[in-house]
Amino acid sequence: MLCIGHRGAMGHAPENTVLSIRKAIELGADWVEIDVHLADGQLIVIHDETLDRTTNGRGKLSGYSIAKLRALEAGRGEKIPTLQEVIEEVKGKVGLNIELKGIATGEAVAIQLLALDKEHQEQILVSSFLMDELVNVSRIDKTIKLGVLSGKDVALAFDWVNKLNAYSIHLSLKQTTAESVQQAHDAGLKLLVYTVNKKVDITRMKLLGVDGVFTNYPDRVLSALSR
Ligand code: G3P
Ligand code: MG
Repeated sequence: MLCIGHRGAMGHAPENTVLSIRKAIELGADWVEIDVHLADGQLIVIHDETLDRTTNGRGKLSGYSIAKLRALEAGRGEKIPTLQEVIEEVKGKVGLNIELKGIATGEAVAIQLLALDKEHQEQILVSSFLMDELVNVSRIDKTIKLGVLSGKDVALAFDWVNKLNAYSIHLSLKQTTAESVQQAHDAGLKLLVYTVNKKVDITRMKLLGVDGVFTNYPDRVLSALSR
C-alpha cells in the first residue's frame, strides 16, 4: 500500500508548500499529492480558488498577477509554489500526483509535462474531479497517467475510467468497500483512497488491499505498515 502525502504532509506543515512536500519526503512517503490552479497564465500549487484560507491574501486568485501571488505568505514564511518548482523538488525522490483543481489546468499541465523526459513523466499521475480537464490532458498526450477522482456517483467514476483509459480511480474512505476494491482490481485499476488519517482506517484500508492512501500524516501510515 503506497503512502501518499496529502498536500505534502499537511498534518505537519502548511499545505501545498515546498516545506510540506519536503516534510512528506523526510517522513518516507512514496508519493506526494498537490492541487493546482492556473493564475495569470501560470500553474500554481494551491487548493482553493481563493486565497483567504491558506495565505495572507484576500479574494480570488484570478484577480492577481503572478508577482503579487508569489509575494504572499502561505504559512511559516512559505510562498505559494509554482508547479515547476514542485516538479523539480520531488524529481528522483518520490512520485507526484498533480490534482487539477481549476478550470483550464488540464491543457496547461499536459503541455508542461511534455517538456519532461519520459522517465520523469512516468513518476507523475494527473487526477481530477473535473472530467473535462482529464479529457484535455489525454487529448494532448495519451501517455500521461490519469486518475479519476470520484464525486458522489462512484458508478459514473468507473464509467469515466473506461472512457479515459485511466491508470487509477480515487475514492473517498466512505466509498471504499470490499466491492469497490474488487471492481477496481477486476478492471485492472489502482485504487487510491482519500483521506486516511486515523489508525483504524489505515488498518481497514490495508486489510481491504487498496493500492494506496492519501494521508495528512505519512508517519502514521508508515508505522501501521511497519515501514
Ligand atoms: O486527491 C485526493 C484529495 O486531495 C481530494 O480532495 O479536496 O483534498 O483535494 P481534496
Ligand atoms: Mg487534492
